[in-house]
Amino acid sequence: MILKILKEQTRAQHEEVEAAVDVMNQMFDLDAYKRLVGGFWSFYAAYEPLIPIEELRAAGFDYAERVKLPLLERDARALGLELEACNAQMPDLGSAAKAFGSLYVIEGSTLGGQVISRHLKETLAITPENGGEFYAGYGKETGPMWKAFGESITAFADGKSLDDEIVDSAKATFAVITEWVGRKTSAAATIK
Ligand code: HEM
Repeated sequence: MILKILKEQTRAQHEEVEAAVDVMNQMFDLDAYKRLVGGFWSFYAAYEPLIPIEELRAAGFDYAERVKLPLLERDARALGLELEACNAQMPDLGSAAKAFGSLYVIEGSTLGGQVISRHLKETLAITPENGGEFYAGYGKETGPMWKAFGESITAFADGKSLDDEIVDSAKATFAVITEWVGRKTSAAATIK
């Protein structure tokens, strides 16, 4: 139930973030890809340490096996990027409900990541070996990983009155990512 609510309540925001990421654009080239990876790298470097891993584990979900920063670090090295500080206001992850809502966005993005990963391979020959690990993500495990997340968040939300807190946190997370990634990708584009 909570997954259906989240999907419906954030549909418009998904369209916005897709427009900000914009990898399907004909003009999307290697420089644009580097800006995109740089943007996500700086975001995750600020965001992932805030995830209340123990609290989530107690609530039946293990994020430790899903960390994405090491993938971005390897991509950044392969692409020759330098870490930039992310000065965007991070979402509040101060309760299990908020963390689950926020992670809905993070884990859901791995679904789109599969589409992006295939596109990157076809258009820019980017693979996990040369800077595409983050988008390759869980690879063939993406479906099962998403299903497992869905079961965890559903079990957590079931019978509690936390839906609004979960949805608000997902919305806040979409907003930060859209704003930050949009700023990183278009700001660099105008300097260029
Ligand atoms: C060009 C970029 C993107 C494309 C093409 C894309 C595409 C997709 C696709 C195909 C799905 C699966 C839909 C389904 O099975 O019903 C999906 C789901 C999702 N994506 Fe994206 N996505 C993109 C970027 C993002 C980003 C950057 C985020 C968040 C940071 C995001 C968050 C989500 C979420 C939360 C879901 C799960 C929706 C649900 O079933 O509840 N996506 N996306």
